[in-house]
Amino acid sequence: MSVLQPKVVRDRLFTVIIVASLVGWLSHASGDEPAATETTEKPDERYTFRDDHDPNGIGKFYMEREIAHVMGFAGMPWLERDEREEEEATSKLIEALKLKPGMVIADIGAGSGVISVLMAEKVAPKGEVLAVDVQQEMLDALKAKCNKLGITNIRPVLGKPKSPKLPAGKVDLAIMVDVYHEFEFPYEMIQGISDAMRPGGQVVFVEYRMEDASVPIKRVHKMAEAQVKREIGLPEHQLKWTKTIDVLPWQHIIIFEKQKPKS
Ligand SMILES: C[S@@+](CC[C@H](N)C(=O)[O-])C[C@H]1O[C@@H](n2cnc3c(N)ncnc32)[C@H](O)[C@@H]1O
Repeated sequence: MSVLQPKVVRDRLFTVIIVASLVGWLSHASGDEPAATETTEKPDERYTFRDDHDPNGIGKFYMEREIAHVMGFAGMPWLERDEREEEEATSKLIEALKLKPGMVIADIGAGSGVISVLMAEKVAPKGEVLAVDVQQEMLDALKAKCNKLGITNIRPVLGKPKSPKLPAGKVDLAIMVDVYHEFEFPYEMIQGISDAMRPGGQVVFVEYRMEDASVPIKRVHKMAEAQVKREIGLPEHQLKWTKTIDVLPWQHIIIFEKQKPKS
């Protein structure tokens, strides 16, 4: 058995300490610190379910808010009603968006396309509206309307409850008019919408004002501005609130911007 000299022992100990420190630093750098895209909640804790809930909701809660039932295609006449301009001032909404020719718009939850049609003429001739909905019947009605009106720059997209099925990084402005509160998987939908945005693009929520008891809409179909900001402001969504425009009779217009990647 060989006996090590004191200097050799000291040198080997020093090497062991250096290697151990390096391993510790690496484990913090690669695993212990939360990654930029890590979610702030665990998936199984994201949604909760309650038996005692609003009959107009689905009994599923996200960040303490009950998710509403999806409006079925039988509700189309309500979307198309003559009084809508007077009640919701859709023309003022379109004005507030400041759309420009050439823009790529995503109308998510487009329904029968009332809002898509108003936006399509603003971005024509080179821009287009990607009209996303989960109900084929809504998209069929939208296609029929475009054929009748001779509109060629609206593209129907059949989405999924967890994904808008949009191309990555291409959208200049995404809008949800009376839609977000119906998403069965709001977290996943917003991640998908954020992925579809080009950096600096705008994501617009038009929701009936929960704060205003005089707005004649069922409770789970309304949203408070603070709740929208809380849900959309999760860091992993990379969407920053920029402004809320309150010029409509019943609804908030709440606008977020897709953050530019950090260099
Ligand atoms: C109340 S309607 C609003 C339609 C349209 N935005 C308008 O203002 O005329 C809501 C629409 O959102 C759609 N929707 C609900 N969840 C969706 C999802 N995850 N992805 C896409 N569309 C969805 C419904 O199918 C329905 O057509």
